[in-house]
Amino acid sequence: MPRQMHLNLFFHSRGHHEASWRHPGTSPFALTDIRYYQDLARRAEAAHFDSIFLADQLALGGDAAQAARTWLEPITVLAAVAVATQRIGLIATASTTYTEPFNLARQFASIDHISNGRAAWNIVTSWLATAASNFGGSGQVSHADRYARGEEFMTVVKTLWDSWAADAVIDDRGGGRYADADRIRPIRHRGDFYQVEGPLNIPRCPQGRPVLVQAGSSDTGRRFAARHAEAVFTAHMAKEGAQEFYADLKRLAVAEGRDPSQVLILPGLSPMIAGTEAEAQRLVRETNDLTDPEVGRKRLSNRFGGHDFSHLPLDRPLSAEDFPDPTTVQAARSRTEVIINLVRRDKLTLRQLLGYLAGARGHYVTAGTPEQIADLMQDWFNDGAADGFNVMPPLLPLQFDVFAQEVVPILQRRGLFRTEYAGTMLREHYGLDWPASQYDRPALAQASD
Ligand SMILES: Cc1cc2nc3c(=O)[nH]c(=O)nc-3n(C[C@H](O)[C@H](O)[C@H](O)COP(=O)(O)O)c2cc1C
Repeated sequence: MPRQMHLNLFFHSRGHHEASWRHPGTSPFALTDIRYYQDLARRAEAAHFDSIFLADQLALGGDAAQAARTWLEPITVLAAVAVATQRIGLIATASTTYTEPFNLARQFASIDHISNGRAAWNIVTSWLATAASNFGGSGQVSHADRYARGEEFMTVVKTLWDSWAADAVIDDRGGGRYADADRIRPIRHRGDFYQVEGPLNIPRCPQGRPVLVQAGSSDTGRRFAARHAEAVFTAHMAKEGAQEFYADLKRLAVAEGRDPSQVLILPGLSPMIAGTEAEAQRLVRETNDLTDPEVGRKRLSNRFGGHDFSHLPLDRPLSAEDFPDPTTVQAARSRTEVIINLVRRDKLTLRQLLGYLAGARGHYVTAGTPEQIADLMQDWFNDGAADGFNVMPPLLPLQFDVFAQEVVPILQRRGLFRTEYAGTMLREHYGLDWPASQYDRPALAQASD
């Protein structure tokens, strides 16, 4: 079969545009109403998307007065969406910095059982500085330390998921044996950050392990992704940047001894789609008119670890000197570089930059006809920039429906996207291998005993 693209629907507020929640055409549901999430997931499943995705931050943020988010806790949402759908993959974000590996391994194993093999974890180290104040109050862990801790966290969760052999549960009512205790092993992890005895207290999950997703883009983040991620989300404002990222991450995966086809790269794409280009542009203007530059200013400050941009005039062209050096930023370093590069390239004013970021926070934003969007996707897919896309409709469900009804059929006619699901599990949709466990490797099993 020719290579086909993978599509994920990223849930965010009533759409990815900052002002989507105010738009009269977006969902009437409250953002705390589970029917909103279930309804979106069913729409994505009807369009044969690979997966849906929920992001997460561990602090409220200073813009709650004018910003609506997907408020519900993502792992809890996945459980509710799992029972409302049958096929679509379910990805939730959880932090390696602010939870314990045992909790996380157990939660995602549970979601994988509840969904019959559709769970995935978006591994984050949590860049938002204010999150630290909700967890012990000892200040933000540095970028390097977050990744060091994350690395050990991964060893622990993977070993916990492998602590049950797939055939450990016998469930023999007549013979009185529920499980084969020889097929369940402690992990006895003793590390710098974690001491975990194990085994996990839940049988091996349907996919062996949940699918691992990651979205770090700094050098450290890329190496982390190359070691662990099976799908990678990334933000680029131009095709060239996406190509550079794609080539670099595949190269790093090979250097880690991995098959590069087992690391899918899914850049964000936020298209405003209409029957004509002029109508698509009109919709963009109509939505932009609902934004407040002062909200954008606060969000920019969050991105740069709390840096003060309040003195910058809205209408003077910006320069790189208006921003802190990205290497000193302890927040999401890669996105700060993307923003500064855009300022350098396009000589934007603060108002223009905030307008652009309002579209989808630094992901690729475009407006056009279904044909134009399909052409762009095909071009990125065939030209070494993407294995698929993290679709981020600016208005939900409105612009997702247009994508599903108008863009998906074009991709299908071109043989670029499935017309039905071939399997039931996310690993099957993504074309990923089944993870080998310690029980498949006797030498390793002895080493861990
Ligand atoms: C599509 C996408 C979704 C993300 N979702 C989250 C999220 O939900 N929570 C979070 O803390 N970081 C999220 N991030 C940020 C990344 O996990 C990562 O922290 C950020 O890109 C900075 O990584 P770096 O420091 O390696 O550059 C996301 C990034 C992308 C591209």
